[in-house]
Amino acid sequence: MPAIVLLGAQWGDEGKGKATDLLGSRLDYVVKFNGGNNAGHTVVIGTEKYALHLLPSGILTPGVVPVIGNGVVIDLGVLFGEIDGLEARGVDTSRLVVSANAHVIPSYNRTLDKVTERFLGSRRIGTTGRGIGPTYSDKMSRVGIRVQDLFDEKILRQKVEGALAQKNHLLVKVYNRRAIEVDEVVDELLAHADRLRPMVADTSLLLGESLARDEVVLLEGGQATLLDVDHGTYPFVTSSNATAGGACTGAGIPPMAVTRVIAIAKAYVTRVGEGPFPTELCDEDGENLRQIGREFGTTTGRPRRCGWYDLPIARYASRINGVTDLVLTKLDVLTGWERIPVCVAYDIDGERVTELPMTQTGFHHAKPIYEYLQGWTEDLSSARTLADLPAAARSYVEFLEERSGSRISAIGVGPERDQTVVIRDLLN
Ligand code: IMP
Repeated sequence: MPAIVLLGAQWGDEGKGKATDLLGSRLDYVVKFNGGNNAGHTVVIGTEKYALHLLPSGILTPGVVPVIGNGVVIDLGVLFGEIDGLEARGVDTSRLVVSANAHVIPSYNRTLDKVTERFLGSRRIGTTGRGIGPTYSDKMSRVGIRVQDLFDEKILRQKVEGALAQKNHLLVKVYNRRAIEVDEVVDELLAHADRLRPMVADTSLLLGESLARDEVVLLEGGQATLLDVDHGTYPFVTSSNATAGGACTGAGIPPMAVTRVIAIAKAYVTRVGEGPFPTELCDEDGENLRQIGREFGTTTGRPRRCGWYDLPIARYASRINGVTDLVLTKLDVLTGWERIPVCVAYDIDGERVTELPMTQTGFHHAKPIYEYLQGWTEDLSSARTLADLPAAARSYVEFLEERSGSRISAIGVGPERDQTVVIRDLLN
């Protein structure tokens, strides 16, 4: 029963596409198990570039069944917008399956996401403003709207009435916005019902049966380890479980089905939104990483914060997720630096700490302690084996592997699909 988990080891945008490309058409199912259209991945196939926010990357691989799992929150307008965009470019999206238990993002939650952030002022999270947080809050508060509710108008109306009874107080009395009509929301959701219905299934059952047939299921995580609501840099996190445990919950498969956990880490670190980031560079080096690495958000276009590789974070991600394979991306971006700092520990109020700080205060006080590795000037983009890399780049990778807690199985050396050093197969 080979279920493979693929997730980000840092704060997101690590470039999961590299690993999906290596697995490619050998997969039977690709499941998105958490998050919504706060994610963003760009897939380059030949001269075509596809920016996906909500659909699992498997939608682009012929023969693979893409699944939106129960752990996802769906903006239906975005879903059909992405489907239409792909169909217009000749991509067949008819295989898509959507969980009946996934929650939908009603427009009032987009409004609430934005006004809440404004209200928080300097304490804002820096969310993507897509209504993700409020929709997960509704799920936990048991006032959420699920995909299946769209197929029973009476139930849908009751649920929307229940939700709005609370939300309208908040919108009107706290945020000084207009109240939202029940009909408005019901109509907005029902408008998608007929088109959605044929895609909807009991996806947990579907995946359980597929694993029993020994098919290969890839569970693709949105966001990343340090954005996980339980294990990330709370409260500066997303509202779902982006770590390996969340894959089982968000897809409805048992933990024992998972045979491999592949984590993606950039050869440096980036983050969007607010929150602690010990190795962040607010200088010329940071700007250079941003420009050379083209570090601007796929979803919001925001410039990403950039910093050096952080070993305590890498070890944490290995432990929390049980990582079996690390894929290091964007090594080529580091070409040209005379020496490359790597954070090996933190100085927290005068104490040397090698693990992630236990408290938020500790995280905010953490200053990186660096070891400096020799840089290289050679172009890496045509390297396909470890031996093709210049000695200094190889030493950098070896250093990271020794200290990150997981073996490195592939290394990205350029944006193209084939610009990858493959050390071992990610499937067998
Ligand atoms: P939300 O997920 O929109 O609620 O945003 C919460 C935090 O997660 C913010 O700091 C976002 O910038 C961050 N975030 C959400 N999705 C992604 C992603 O796909 N990549 C990187 N950061 C993300």
